[in-house]
Amino acid sequence: MPIQEVIRPSMRQTLGIFAQLRADPWQEFKQLADRGAEVDLQIPRKGFYIINDAGIARNLLEAHDSSLTKGTKDQRMLRDLGAHGLFTIAETDGEWSRQRDLVEPLFHGAMLAQYAGIVTEKTRNMILRWEGLSEGKPIHIDNLEGQIRNLTLRIISTALFDYEISDQEIEEVNSSLNSVFGFYTDSVRNFGIPWLFRQFKSSFVESVAKIEDFADTVITRRKESGKTGDLLATLMGTEGLNDEEIKDNILTFLIAGHETTTTALVWTLIELSKAEAAEYRGRIQEEIRSILPDRTPTMKDLRSFKFTRRAFQEALRLHPPVSILTRKAREDIKVGENFTIPKGSYIVINIVGMQGSENSWHDAQTFNPDRFREEGHASSLAYMPFGAGPRICVGSPMAMMEGPLILAMLFKEFGDVKIKDSDIINHDVSASIRPDQKVVVDFSALPAKL
Ligand code: HEM
Repeated sequence: MPIQEVIRPSMRQTLGIFAQLRADPWQEFKQLADRGAEVDLQIPRKGFYIINDAGIARNLLEAHDSSLTKGTKDQRMLRDLGAHGLFTIAETDGEWSRQRDLVEPLFHGAMLAQYAGIVTEKTRNMILRWEGLSEGKPIHIDNLEGQIRNLTLRIISTALFDYEISDQEIEEVNSSLNSVFGFYTDSVRNFGIPWLFRQFKSSFVESVAKIEDFADTVITRRKESGKTGDLLATLMGTEGLNDEEIKDNILTFLIAGHETTTTALVWTLIELSKAEAAEYRGRIQEEIRSILPDRTPTMKDLRSFKFTRRAFQEALRLHPPVSILTRKAREDIKVGENFTIPKGSYIVINIVGMQGSENSWHDAQTFNPDRFREEGHASSLAYMPFGAGPRICVGSPMAMMEGPLILAMLFKEFGDVKIKDSDIINHDVSASIRPDQKVVVDFSALPAKL
């Protein structure tokens, strides 16, 4: 393993790094990765490692997973929503493996094809709604992220829970999640102090309660209908989980299953709408329309959407929705000849940094889907938008189906896509990486002869 030296900034430099991480985490994580070595921040009595080398990151997540825990402070915060769910649960007494084994089959084969039908149906409805509202004029959307978020929430709720979420529920879930995520971001930036007093913050308590109420409604409806054959039925079945775990997994899948996909899709569209991406837009349109002149895409078509898929993969490289992973070392971890991470250390895997670094990628900051033409690139060491090792994203097959299918439907329907100020939209680093401003978009109609 190519162990580079470990940089140990002075206490003063460490304070500078923390100040920068607080002010602009996106840029600071990228700059740290450009140093090409691990960074051991100087915190009294604690190890704090930022891992920038992809080989070491993979080695930690794949070979040393059992020496790591997700019990970091920032992850403990997330446990207000879904403490016993798959994302945050620890591997104590085999609890995590039991849940993982239970849900893993629901993201493959026939299940995925079934979800694809839901993705295309809901996307079609969204496009028809836009067309209805635009009364024959070109379509103007003044909050693309909001529209895509509503779509992905509808998809996840129907696909995994067979629950048709209403407009009012979408509104409530969204505004409650915004409030909770905003509070977490504020807490992380202020060393976790606001979070310690969260029970006194009524807007936080009410928001958590509203999201939990939604999960309760989903469970009550399911008890009435008794439907079988989906993720919720598996969670509630005889081989399934206890009441607390069921509820926490509804919250986990609701959140993990729509937040990341939303931001990934929005950033793909932002990149594709730029002037210099005109050729890429043309290639996607050509690809989609040659395969689907007059019908809706299916799961089977995905294999043929090669360039569309690469565009989505490339957006996940430049704008990874989960920009860092955090872990704590349960024991001393020897990761190289001269590099041991001491027990109790806090570890940050710098995904955004390594995926955007010239150390791993040629012309790293340029959006270029063609770099994924070589099959090896998607499994490259320095590409891990879905994480790595046993805790790799269980929903990644769904995300890699949903993202390209939605893109295909948009590019099949519209002649062009123009996003206002696409060059100056920045990242708001929170639970994922949302755009820092409203994304305003104009979709033009297809030219008549196409
Ligand atoms: C582009 C979309 C997505 C991205 C970038 C993404 C990213 C990730 C990453 C990086 C992890 C690992 C976290 C860690 O190691 O700490 C993860 C875990 C997870 N993701 Fe995703 N995800 C996406 C979509 C989805 C979808 C669609 C679902 C469900 C329908 C989902 C459900 C989960 C769950 C339950 C876990 C925890 C898995 C475990 O610990 O066993 N994700 N995701």
